[in-house]
Amino acid sequence: MSLFAIGDLHLHFGCELKARGQTTGVWRGHEERFQKNCAALIGPEDTLVLAGDHSWGKNLQQAEPDLEYILQLPGRKVLLRGNHDMFWDAGKTAALNERYRGSLFFLQNNYFAYGDTALVGTKGFTFEGPFYLDRRGRIIGWDEREAVRAEKLVDRELERLRLSFEAARRDGYRKFIVFLHYPPTNIMEEESSFTAMAEAYGAQQVVYAHCHGESRFHDSIEGTRNGVRYSLVSGDYLRWMPQRILD
Ligand SMILES: [Fe+2]
Ligand SMILES: [Fe+2]
Repeated sequence: MSLFAIGDLHLHFGCELKARGQTTGVWRGHEERFQKNCAALIGPEDTLVLAGDHSWGKNLQQAEPDLEYILQLPGRKVLLRGNHDMFWDAGKTAALNERYRGSLFFLQNNYFAYGDTALVGTKGFTFEGPFYLDRRGRIIGWDEREAVRAEKLVDRELERLRLSFEAARRDGYRKFIVFLHYPPTNIMEEESSFTAMAEAYGAQQVVYAHCHGESRFHDSIEGTRNGVRYSLVSGDYLRWMPQRILD
């Protein structure tokens, strides 16, 4: 039994593609390559966490063919909300879990049991600027109004992550892996409310996506910090090969 993760599939089987950069290079035919990689790597007892930005669909009807593609992948599938997942209103998570019962699990204010480890998570949020740079490219400031707005979004997401942890803890879980769509820190890799919460609950790992395109691969923490292992699993970063998170 193994746990795998990957994010940012950005599928568009039921709608128009919204990003011009996603037809060439590493994105060319990525749906087929990913499917083949999953078939070679993942068995029926394994679990695959898809860390958000599943679909360009504007609503569930447009996203349905993408969800159909995902549910035909091998193993148990756990989905996290990404910033582009317009089909998934946070308040409608229970309805999605009902509709796809037995084939897809939507992780939001709940948790997924993986052996004695609880998979917890939420979309997360991090301030992405604008940052102001000096001539050498060093950060000398940022947009204060955007920073205030970001703080509110962080607070909301932090509460959702806490609900996820608490749901698992109530059921007796003491081992946790955290999944976020957004990176856990800003580009200065400073400690954040998310890294603090992961540490406070004793999470073993934090797995995140959202950073795609080569210029963004190093936007946040990778490796171990204060006893927590951090991994970026955006699809193009992994070249569509799911990352093994736990055996
Ligand atoms: Fe994305
Ligand atoms: Fe994203």
